[in-house]
Amino acid sequence: MRPYQAVLIATTGLIVAAIAAFVLYGGGGSGGRGIAAIGGPFTLTDQTGKTRTERDFHGSYNLIYFGYTFCPDVCPTALQVMTSAMDRLDKGMQAKITPIFITIDPARDTVEQLAAYVENFHPRMIGLTGTEEQVVQAARAYRVYYAAAKESAGDTTDYLMDHSSFVFLMDPAGLYVTHFTHATKPDRMAETLQAKIGN
Ligand code: NI
Repeated sequence: MRPYQAVLIATTGLIVAAIAAFVLYGGGGSGGRGIAAIGGPFTLTDQTGKTRTERDFHGSYNLIYFGYTFCPDVCPTALQVMTSAMDRLDKGMQAKITPIFITIDPARDTVEQLAAYVENFHPRMIGLTGTEEQVVQAARAYRVYYAAAKESAGDTTDYLMDHSSFVFLMDPAGLYVTHFTHATKPDRMAETLQAKIGN
């Protein structure tokens, strides 16, 4: 191979990687066309130890958030917003929605850890964990980015995770409806849920 060919191949590889990263993590981040592809199959374990797939959650609307229980700020905020928004709805509406927290840190977020954590939030909230591979697949389905934070590299017990923090609203067929973030106000989330789901 001549040097210019190697450069060409390397450059092409970078461009392909950049496009893949855009499509996976950035392309649909704010209501663009790409976001229609959000959602898909997963197999995980809930906070009671039961195996759950996406099909178990079809039939109700789902508010889905990916994060981790050791998160100091963004994750508890997002889950509290979901909880407060649910609390603003009447019982009939609440029964139509399942809030779901999926960990992106399965090494620390065991079934027991999740069980203790989700108790802090809405009583309907489900916590899901799994193997590294299962979590990768679930995160891919939802175009969620995550990685161990650079500043805590090498520490295997006390580390932070970088991750996207969207709250996805999925319909009873498992199709994407809209999304929120941890910065969405509970009133606003509740209004949107009411408008999209109705009575
Ligand atoms: Ni977080």
